[in-house]
Parts: sequence; structure tokens; C-alpha cells
Amino acid sequence: MNVAEISTNVHYIGVNDRRTDLFESLWPLPYGVSYNSYLVAGPEKAAIIDGVEAAYALEQIGHIREILGDRKPDYLVINHMEPDHSGAIRILREVYPDITIVATRQALDMVKGFYGEEASTIAVKEGDSISLGEGTTLRFVPIPMVHWPETMVSILEEEKILFSGDAFGCFGALNGGVTDEEMSTDHYFPEMVRYYSNIVGKYGAFVQKALKKLESVEIAAICPTHGPVWRGRIAEVVGLYDRLSRYEPLDNGVTIIYGSMYGNTARLAEEAARALTEAGVRDISIHDASRSGHSYIISDIFRHRGLIVAAPTYNDTLFPPVKTLLDAIATRGVKNREVLLFGSNTWAQRAVPVMEEILAKAGIEPIASPVVMKQSASADVIAAVRQSAAALAARLATFDK
Ligand code: FEO
Repeated sequence: MNVAEISTNVHYIGVNDRRTDLFESLWPLPYGVSYNSYLVAGPEKAAIIDGVEAAYALEQIGHIREILGDRKPDYLVINHMEPDHSGAIRILREVYPDITIVATRQALDMVKGFYGEEASTIAVKEGDSISLGEGTTLRFVPIPMVHWPETMVSILEEEKILFSGDAFGCFGALNGGVTDEEMSTDHYFPEMVRYYSNIVGKYGAFVQKALKKLESVEIAAICPTHGPVWRGRIAEVVGLYDRLSRYEPLDNGVTIIYGSMYGNTARLAEEAARALTEAGVRDISIHDASRSGHSYIISDIFRHRGLIVAAPTYNDTLFPPVKTLLDAIATRGVKNREVLLFGSNTWAQRAVPVMEEILAKAGIEPIASPVVMKQSASADVIAAVRQSAAALAARLATFDK
């Protein structure tokens, strides 16, 4: 399995990884992940586009042999050097010693740094192309920082197939189908939001530049390095990446993140959620920052326009799991969110100033004064929380969906 015809000249030769628990040792993979690789076989030459993770090298080589038989691939095109796509390079070079690596200059430097490989390479830049014979021309377009600085895309000109690297990728192994037209893709879309927000989320401005660069390219199929090959739902996928990279929320729901040692601050989160509901908000996600996976919380923050953060003071600063999450927001430069802050303490209030300081780095200013609770929730504190939540709901109602 995992050999599939995309067109007469192009085959899918990727692999499914259902064994890795955490992508980049950070992000859970409940549905696995695919490392997509493609073989473009022209009348004269054959090129492998994108590699796979080291543990899957022999599986990929088996796929290459299944299509090419005794014929040898001439080129290995590396769009992106992260080891989930480049790990198998050394083994591939041992099996095919004459293969030429095609990549940007910066990627070739990384090939040398990661794998000590120097021989037989071609450095390509904007607009360069190689011919695999009549009707099979590969053109290269650098798209730096999507997701590393060396990244490029490759375009099979005659067939309008875009090999997009991590761009337009998502978590989730492929369950038999390879193209979106031969599967139900519904569960890949939430995993695309989680993949984008977790992995690429910091680089929104670069994704926007890449989208502008590719605007004029006619595309019949997108072949990313992760997830389905997109053919029938290209507009939706490009639209989703466009919106996410502009930090535009996908809906007017609210993410509520709280930290709570003994349940007092958790009560503020619950009261806020009830007040939001009474005010008409229907999409609310509540996360205990100590327990919910941060990967999913970050995904919800990218999805919803509203954000409420409630946390205690701890060791004279902000409760650590919530601090980690706010740092993740600041690192990714999340914008365009309507935010409320609730802080708690027993003898000295430090949570709120630290929250404000971190969010200010992302240019986020809360829409109302923070609510501060000392020791437990008085009737006044509950009233203030509910009033703030109602104000947030009213504000969200002013935005289009
Ligand atoms: Fe799928 Fe940035 O590697």
C-alpha cells in the first residue's frame, strides 16, 4: 500500500507513521501522521520529491522499486529539510549512489550539516527548473520560513501539480485513500488547524508571502508533505491557510483557559462559560491548562475569536501551565482576539500583571479591566466575571461569522 497513481507521470510513494506518539516530541498524533513522498517519472529522468523519516527509508525504497523496477531515480528534490522529510537521505544515497540532490543552497548546507552529504547536488533558486523529458518540467519557487528558511515548493509545470512541502499539510495518517477525492476528508480539517497552529503558526507573515507568490500559479493538485493530496477541495484548503496565516479567527466562539489548584479559579471559568451561553455564545471550549493537551488548546485559540484566561498567582508569578500557554500565544504572534483576564491570589496578586505583560508582546490588549479574586469567589467577584463575559459576548456578536 501507499503507492498510488496521482497522474500518469506522478505516483504517491509516502508512508504512514502510526507509531510516533508526539510529533517533534511535542504534539500528540492520535490519528498518526503521513510523510508524503512523490515520484515523478518523465520519459528521460525520474525524480523523487520529498523524503521520509529515517525509520521508513526501506519502505519508501520498496515503493520506488515497485514503480521504477530496475530503473534508478535520477534526482531527489528536497523541498524541506526537517528530518521528518530528510531522515532517509543517507540510506537513499547508499541505495542510489548516483542520485543528484536538488534543493536550495541553504537546504544543501543543511544536508551537509545533518548527514555529511556533499556529492552530486544542484542548488536551485527562484524560477530554476529541471526537465525530466518532454512534458515533465519541474520548476522551483523558494518559500522561506514555511516552515524553515531553506524551504521551497516544486511545480510540475505541464500538469499544474504543486508539491508544497509542509504548506497545506495536516496531521493524520492516510487510511487507504491518498487524494481528497477518494476519502472522507472531514477529520483532516480540524487536524489541519491543529497542525498549522502548532507547527507553522509563528510564521503567518511568511505563509502570506508564499500565498501571494503562488497566487498566479494555476494549480490542479496540491501534494503536501503531510495528509491528503488535495484536488477537489483546493479552494477550501488554500482559504483555510490564508485565514489562519492572517490570524483571522475561524468562528466567534470562546476558548476559556484556566489554572486552578483547589477549584476556586475553576469556578470563575465555569461562571464565565454560563454567562457567555446565556448571552448567546454557542461554541465554547473550556480547558484546564494543567490537564488539557496544550496542542489542542493552541488549536482552539487559533479557531475562536474570544479568549478568557483565568489563573492564580503561584511563586510570585503566573501559575506555570497557564504561563506556558500564554508564552505560546506570544511566540506565535496571535492577533485579532477579544480577550478577558481573571486573576486570583491568596495574599499578593501577580498573575494578572504577568498575563498582561506576556499578551502585550503579542500586541493583545484585554477588552475590559481584569477581574481579581482574593482567596475565593465572593458574590461581587462572580457578578464581575459574569458581567465581563456578557460584555465579551456582546462584542463577539458584532463580528461577522
Ligand atoms: Fe513536516 Fe517542517 O516538517
